[in-house]
Amino acid sequence: MKAEELIKKYLEFFKKREHTIIRSAPLIPENDPTVLFTTAGMHPLVPYLLGQAHPGGKRLADVQKCIRTGDIEDVGDNTHSTFFEMLGNWSLGDYFKKESLTWSYEFLTNELKLDKSKLHVTVFAGDNDAPRDEESAKIWKSLGLPGSQIHYLPKEDNWWGPAGETGPCGPDSEIFVDTGKTACSKDCKPGCKCARFVEIWNNVFMQYNKTKDGKYEELKQKNIDTGMGVERTTTMMQGKKSVYETELFTPLFKVLEQDSNNISARIIVDHIKAATMMLGDEKGVLPGKSGQGYVLRRLIRRAVRYLEKLNIDKKKISDVSKEVIKMYKERYANLESKKDFIIKQLNKEVDNFYNTLSKGLSKFNQLIKDKCELTGEDAFLLYQSFGFPIEMIIEEAKNNDVGADITGFENELAKHQELSKAGADKLFKGGLADNSEETKKLHTATHLLLEALRRVLKSDVRQRGSNITAERLRFDFKFDRKLEPDELKKVEDLVNEQIKKALPVKKEEMTFEEAKKAGAQAEFEGKYKDKVFVYSIGDFSKEVCGGPHVSNTKELGSFRIKKEESIAAGVRRIKAVLE
Ligand code: ALA
Repeated sequence: MKAEELIKKYLEFFKKREHTIIRSAPLIPENDPTVLFTTAGMHPLVPYLLGQAHPGGKRLADVQKCIRTGDIEDVGDNTHSTFFEMLGNWSLGDYFKKESLTWSYEFLTNELKLDKSKLHVTVFAGDNDAPRDEESAKIWKSLGLPGSQIHYLPKEDNWWGPAGETGPCGPDSEIFVDTGKTACSKDCKPGCKCARFVEIWNNVFMQYNKTKDGKYEELKQKNIDTGMGVERTTTMMQGKKSVYETELFTPLFKVLEQDSNNISARIIVDHIKAATMMLGDEKGVLPGKSGQGYVLRRLIRRAVRYLEKLNIDKKKISDVSKEVIKMYKERYANLESKKDFIIKQLNKEVDNFYNTLSKGLSKFNQLIKDKCELTGEDAFLLYQSFGFPIEMIIEEAKNNDVGADITGFENELAKHQELSKAGADKLFKGGLADNSEETKKLHTATHLLLEALRRVLKSDVRQRGSNITAERLRFDFKFDRKLEPDELKKVEDLVNEQIKKALPVKKEEMTFEEAKKAGAQAEFEGKYKDKVFVYSIGDFSKEVCGGPHVSNTKELGSFRIKKEESIAAGVRRIKAVLE
């Protein structure tokens, strides 16, 4: 079955069940400044999920264009793409679990003729915010799914939303297809990273509103929000291994004369498709230095880099883009009318990139002359003044056999963002807060966190990145699974113990070899040739680092982890605060 047929069948199915078919909203959210792009079908419907009457009534369905950039490092694997389409049906305080799950099941087994023995579903295991979802499990059983195909999972897996920082959300029931791959372990089940089960549809029971202070309030109306991925479901229906092997991508590989298994080619077509959709959106954006414009710029520049890698003429960008327009113009009419604009902007950005690139490359060579590492400040200069995407800075550093201080870069970036934010605040308040003490504290807390992770997980956890603002720390590290709640608690406790012990923070200068011998952690192995600073926190932690830090852990207050999530295959992210 082709994607087009899937979409048609879906909308017809729900139309028959009294749903109004609504148009896809723009990719740029109209009411939510906390999110750059529309990431789900429900996003444009937030006011209606909160109680406002929708002109289409209480039952809606659509196919919504979406962009997700959080998984950008996963693009090129079998299931992720930056641009995707989501089929959705909604009940705004009308039907609830029984109808929603029954219709999902009927659509999958009667219309799509999926084998029910391959369907696995998850339901919410329950916690302090919402009870265990026995009701959904019962419904699934009554539909004919055996208990062995129904799995209870905790909030990390079985709760959806809000799309931004606040808003409607709730427990969900996700539908997976068993691809038939061998189980990776005896505990292998939906949600497992091994990709044996692919999620195709999510039924969210939107009964809660998450408030600014992190509380879940019951909503006045109980809503249903569902989302089915067009690309993934099409892939499944066609028995293909990857979304890139379906007609939603293959014409683009043809233009490039590349195989759909080539990861670089996958990144190119994915990024040009997403860039075309952004430029061709009703609320279209232009490449720029911040917000959506920066994401767009980054996608185009990344595509250019991969074209170069494959030795393909950059002119192919507009050919691929024209093909994208051809493929999607029926569903998104704007694309055709904005065609000239889209192509012109793409070409302009490519030229622009080449101009800054050649200037930037000579600057790069100048900056690393006689050095073994590009400093955070220099990396930021390349980024800020020469438009180098960060991944390109890392790549160039690798090509030239030097290190790149990415943590330093991210700190510079955060400082810059803080400054511009502070600049804006100043206009209102007429005063500028000095945040440096806060960032210092969070930086020291980051060292404690890394060591606590290493001890609790009993694993050689490695830092992948760090970003600190005055409000919070963000820490990325290599680890191949989700952390259990009790592990997070242990990490938190261990950090707080060190704070209570009032440990002194000591700074020493030594060679990298000496630092390693002393057991210091270092983010970039083998890339330091000269002397480095090593910060020790009591006997607890030792890290190669540029600083600055507080002088004693007693200054830190109380450490709390706010979030743990995956940001790429094998990379986890923790956000934490000091209270
Ligand atoms: N909003 C839900 C999702 O994106 C359906 O998975």
